[in-house]
Amino acid sequence: MKARAYVNFALIKYWGKKIANIKVPHQSSLSVTIDQLYTETEVIFSDELKADKIIINGKKSGAEVLRTEKYLNVLREYYPIKKYCYLISENFVPTASGLASSASAFASIAKAFLAELNLSDKEISKAARLGSGSASRSVYGGFAIWDHGVSHETSYARPLNIDWPEFRIIIVLVSKKEKKHKSGDAMAKSVKNKAYQNWINEATNDLENMKSALEAKNIDLVGQIAENNSNKMHDLIELEGIKYRVKESYEIIEIIKKLRKSGVKAYYTMDAGPNVKIITLDKYVGKIVNEINVKTIVAKIGPKATII
Ligand code: PMV
Repeated sequence: MKARAYVNFALIKYWGKKIANIKVPHQSSLSVTIDQLYTETEVIFSDELKADKIIINGKKSGAEVLRTEKYLNVLREYYPIKKYCYLISENFVPTASGLASSASAFASIAKAFLAELNLSDKEISKAARLGSGSASRSVYGGFAIWDHGVSHETSYARPLNIDWPEFRIIIVLVSKKEKKHKSGDAMAKSVKNKAYQNWINEATNDLENMKSALEAKNIDLVGQIAENNSNKMHDLIELEGIKYRVKESYEIIEIIKKLRKSGVKAYYTMDAGPNVKIITLDKYVGKIVNEINVKTIVAKIGPKATII
């Protein structure tokens, strides 16, 4: 079976785990799946194999292969599939963009590996979460909420029924360098900081406001809430001496602020890396892209994970 899942970006971020090994978070998050970047994974089971044979982006070894090997063992613990498999996974992102995503990767692996069980999206979301928290949201197209829950059974994402064809995300490729700090390690530090409880409270509040703003399709409100939430997450991360926001990110942020003063509706959000994602509507895309002199990818709202 072969599955495809698309990348999602959080408008309300997930930052910090309550149950680390099964990636149950402290707070709920909200994302949008985009149509430009995705991962395809093919899984072929074989009775002859004594171990999984994994190839990721053409490589048979390395950190990603090891992580996937462990993940397949976890899936075999939770679900009634005991066979080994050939697994070939490939990220479809512009080469050397630094945009490889664990969200689309683990959602496509879960979908392909568990295909024969005909599970619900909710169950695939739980399974994807075991690989990477943010992957729980890439099971769905459009906007999705990952309700934090308190256990494997209760922590999964669900789709939000919002149709907004004009919505755009512009990915600004600030840097293609690998991130120095893995999100999981940085999260573990943040959770121990005394400022962390405040993050949980703020993010919970932001999520409620974001839901209403999305329902009203109010781009200014959606943008402001997302931008503030992203800033709060990065402020919290920087308390640990970890900086994902670099000089080049701030240069893009300044351009966004200037555009806003001239009436262009553009807001930003950032994840565990230096790239900036701009939240806007289709009619502003031309003006925004014109002002930015590094590579951009303009994305619309993307589809759910599927067997292909
Ligand atoms: O599940 P991970 O390790 O990809 O964590 C992702 C964390 C952020 O991207 C920073 C926020 C989010 O909710 O996607």
